[in-house]
Amino acid sequence: MADPKLLTISGSLRAEATNRKLLREAVRLFGLAQMTEADLRLPLYDGDDEARDGVPSVVQALADQIAQADAVVISTPEYNKGPSGVLKNALDWVSRTQGNPWDGKPVAVMSAAAGRAGGERAQMVLRGFLTPFQPRLITGPEVHLAGSGEAFSEDGRLLSDHYASTLERLMQKLRKEIQE
Ligand SMILES: Cc1cc2nc3c(=O)[nH]c(=O)nc-3n(C[C@H](O)[C@H](O)[C@H](O)COP(=O)(O)O)c2cc1C
Repeated sequence: MADPKLLTISGSLRAEATNRKLLREAVRLFGLAQMTEADLRLPLYDGDDEARDGVPSVVQALADQIAQADAVVISTPEYNKGPSGVLKNALDWVSRTQGNPWDGKPVAVMSAAAGRAGGERAQMVLRGFLTPFQPRLITGPEVHLAGSGEAFSEDGRLLSDHYASTLERLMQKLRKEIQE
């Protein structure tokens, strides 16, 4: 069997995003996989733009990436106790495409944040955001990476064995979900 296709979605756009680092660690701990990183630099959803121009090609490309993936891994930062606006914007845009690429899709979520709770509240809200799309959302173990700015080595490895082993267990669950 070919290596599973994983799509990763970071809710933080910045180059040094700890959420992207966490996703790369997730893929490493998942084991053999083909990874694609989504780009959430999409226009802001505006119903007038949609009525005039339809769904932008960058949004359709994201929806196609979700549809073609065997599983999706999302990591959200916590902005004022919720997921980032760019992530919500992406979910809203994708919901305007034909069909529902999330339907039945194995999805793992996680969060990385500066605070001590590791974005726990944001992650809980994100789970609620995804529910209408009916993915096969992995319930746990939950990964909330606290103090994320200090959580990685120079070469992007998680410094904490605790987080690494929890993340590995989550990825094992995701792999199993793909196979079912
Ligand atoms: C607008 C804004 C709001 C934030 N609110 C929170 C918050 O509620 N809780 C928290 O732990 N960190 C908060 N932070 C800090 C982020 O957790 C931190 O910037 C984190 O590194 C973002 O993830 P990234 O490294 O992937 O960009 C906030 C940051 C910004 C820019």
